[in-house]
Amino acid sequence: MSIVTFQQYTYIIAAGCFILALKWLSRPSTARRGVTIGEIGMAIAILGALITKGMTYNWIIVGLVLGAIIGLPLAIFMPMKDVPQRTALSHSFGGLAAAVVGTAEFYLHARAGATPLTHFEMVALILEVLLGYLTFTGSLMAFGKLQELLPSRPMVYKGQNAVNLTLFAIAVAIGVYLVADPTKTVLFPALAGLSLLFGVLLIIPIGGADMPTVISLLNSYAGLSASAMGFVLNNPLLIVAGALDGSSGLILSIIMCKAMNRSFTNVLFGGFGQVAQAGGATEQRPYRSASAEEAASILEVASRVVVVPGYGMAVAQAQHKVRELYDSLTKAGVDVKFAIHPVAGRMPGHMNVLLAEADIPYDRLIEMDEINPEFAQTDVVVIIGANDVTNPAAKTDKTSPIYGMPILDVDKASTVMVIKRSMSPGFAGIDNDLYYMDKTMMLFGDAKAFTGELVKELAAAKAGV
Ligand code: TAP
Repeated sequence: MSIVTFQQYTYIIAAGCFILALKWLSRPSTARRGVTIGEIGMAIAILGALITKGMTYNWIIVGLVLGAIIGLPLAIFMPMKDVPQRTALSHSFGGLAAAVVGTAEFYLHARAGATPLTHFEMVALILEVLLGYLTFTGSLMAFGKLQELLPSRPMVYKGQNAVNLTLFAIAVAIGVYLVADPTKTVLFPALAGLSLLFGVLLIIPIGGADMPTVISLLNSYAGLSASAMGFVLNNPLLIVAGALDGSSGLILSIIMCKAMNRSFTNVLFGGFGQVAQAGGATEQRPYRSASAEEAASILEVASRVVVVPGYGMAVAQAQHKVRELYDSLTKAGVDVKFAIHPVAGRMPGHMNVLLAEADIPYDRLIEMDEINPEFAQTDVVVIIGANDVTNPAAKTDKTSPIYGMPILDVDKASTVMVIKRSMSPGFAGIDNDLYYMDKTMMLFGDAKAFTGELVKELAAAKAGV
């Protein structure tokens, strides 16, 4: 078998692994398998690429070592709750890699005597460079906002969209000119510079809380850039892998927008997170608060309990205490399920990841559509740091910013317990009618500390103390 044939086989196997990885990653129960097959696919792809005839390995080894020096600490030391910013950083590196390869290819083919790129290849190269550089700076900005190195509020000024669109149009015009006349190499740095600047300007008007959706969109740009690179380098695996990455990122962004009942334009230009960060005024209405002891006495006699985790559980890192609560109730013969809203928390799959970290069985995690009909037969719902995803205003109040967002029908349960620190609003910055219902008990405190108290009270009651 020739080297070329062997390489083609590795590419087909790797592409198959990537498709399987995406399939398996879409369910919590198969997600670990998805990660493993994705890693195997990538290892096979790298092996296939490395055996290219005439390859020199010195720079590749330098790249591998550098990548490992940056990647290993990121993977090992960044806590789970910082996964969104870690993802933003990986996308920025992906975008940079594609853009730098595109830049090298451009100058390589622009040399006197070198074979020029075809028009089609030039179009692909311009796309690769444009998307690659803007993904690089855009993702760095997203990282900065999420890590609070930069102000997370939307930075908005008059005429911002017009400025951004003009810059983008100039970059595209330069690209078109370069396709027509690639010998005008002097224009290339301007294209790269404008793309870098556009990435920054695109992200600054977006609030920190909208970053996960934006990161998913940037992921899609990085994938498209890699796919374009595949056309330039004539590498079918890059075309396939980049297209998979690009389309899955886009699909994920659409799913997130739908689940939040937001449009793309609203996420990109809406400054939605502003209200939440401003604190949002809450109405003075009577509500009922209770102690851990009172809450435990109700849980003790319940038969069906549904736990609704949200952003506050992630912030408090309460998942292990939640596991203890699950164990304690299950041992007492209570049927305990977890209701998972698609945009609970701040990133896709946020709750699944945290609950899996605490070893809560996958089959206890029930998606919104499946759990909603069960709330009417539920004795107690325990909401732990979730807010917007339970707000009935999404169903009843046409003037509410979240009207139309699918929510968990927790108000149908017999008793609703809400663990949070205050009456403050959640991400959408609006009051929650659920908190003022007769059946609702507000359990004020940090999610981890209060859940711990509940566990203690249940244990004490069991011991007859
Ligand atoms: P939120 O509506 O943001 O509410 C979280 C609640 O947690 C807050 O009201 C807060 O109240 C409480 N909290 C914060 N820290 C806490 C702690 N240490 N202990 C106890 N409670 C704490 O969360 P949600 O219900 O998960 O909804 C998610 C929201 O984010 C949705 O509006 C969604 O559209 C949006 N969003 C989601 C995503 C993805 S992909 N998941 C991406 C972007 C935006 P206190 O301050 O009173 O404690």
